[in-house]
Amino acid sequence: MSNEAASPDGWQPEQYARYRSEREQPFYDLMSLVTPRPGGRVVDLGCGTGVLTRVLHEHTQAAETIGVDRSAAMMQEWASHAGGGVRFERGDIAEFSMSGIDVVFANASIQWVDDHADLFPRLVESLAPGGQLAVQMPANEDHPSHATAGRVARQAPHAEALNGFVYRHAVEAPEWYAEQLARLGFAEQHVRVQVYLHRLPGPEDVVEWVKGSLLTGYRKRISGQEYEAFLRDYREQLLSVLPEERPFLYSFKRILLWGRMG
Ligand SMILES: C[S@@+](CC[C@H](N)C(=O)[O-])C[C@H]1O[C@@H](n2cnc3c(N)ncnc32)[C@H](O)[C@@H]1O
Repeated sequence: MSNEAASPDGWQPEQYARYRSEREQPFYDLMSLVTPRPGGRVVDLGCGTGVLTRVLHEHTQAAETIGVDRSAAMMQEWASHAGGGVRFERGDIAEFSMSGIDVVFANASIQWVDDHADLFPRLVESLAPGGQLAVQMPANEDHPSHATAGRVARQAPHAEALNGFVYRHAVEAPEWYAEQLARLGFAEQHVRVQVYLHRLPGPEDVVEWVKGSLLTGYRKRISGQEYEAFLRDYREQLLSVLPEERPFLYSFKRILLWGRMG
């Protein structure tokens, strides 16, 4: 798939995979918090292409792992990762409702779902006694790579094209999650912020990085031409504030959280 052939939902698996090893490290860090649950049931929310769903399935030694995603583009690869206890379902995390799940896992997905005060109790309802919840989400809103996108979205002509839409980060402060997990009945928990330092060839590579994630939220709302104009302004404004440093040190904060019900 070329950059021009975006899916209607904005996701471009190839663009997302461009920084694969950097993007995968938080997945492995999150997965290492999960205690294997031989014979259990696992759900991978916002599973993407499914390649990591299989890795999670092997780690947990579950009998069944269900990957859930709403993106038509991401589901193209599901067939090659399904089988041996792994299956996939198209669905929206915002409407997620299951029961008796031993591990609910969500890597880099629930930042797209609004209202975590509403979402978390529903995730908990799906858990079996002793079930585990593991979530990783970006917390990099204050970095120029994210702040610039919001600024450009408020400027003409983009504000009009976007109908006033500005991506609003649904992610709360790390302490909010710690308190929430305690209130929701998790007997054990681990909540941390981790800084991932990525060495990119130069500052222009930050644009390529963000095109594969944050900017997909804009891309799906405007025409190809409008998106090209948005991207031009974003690139110009971002590069005017980033240091001209090679390699470029792109620091990226993420929240990793894990809890086990009593
Ligand atoms: C950044 S990718 C992460 C994919 C995978 N978890 C990984 O670690 O590689 C985010 C995924 O979340 C999915 N997603 C975002 N919002 C969603 C929603 N409301 N319901 C279902 N999937 C969603 C996207 O379609 C995308 O595949």
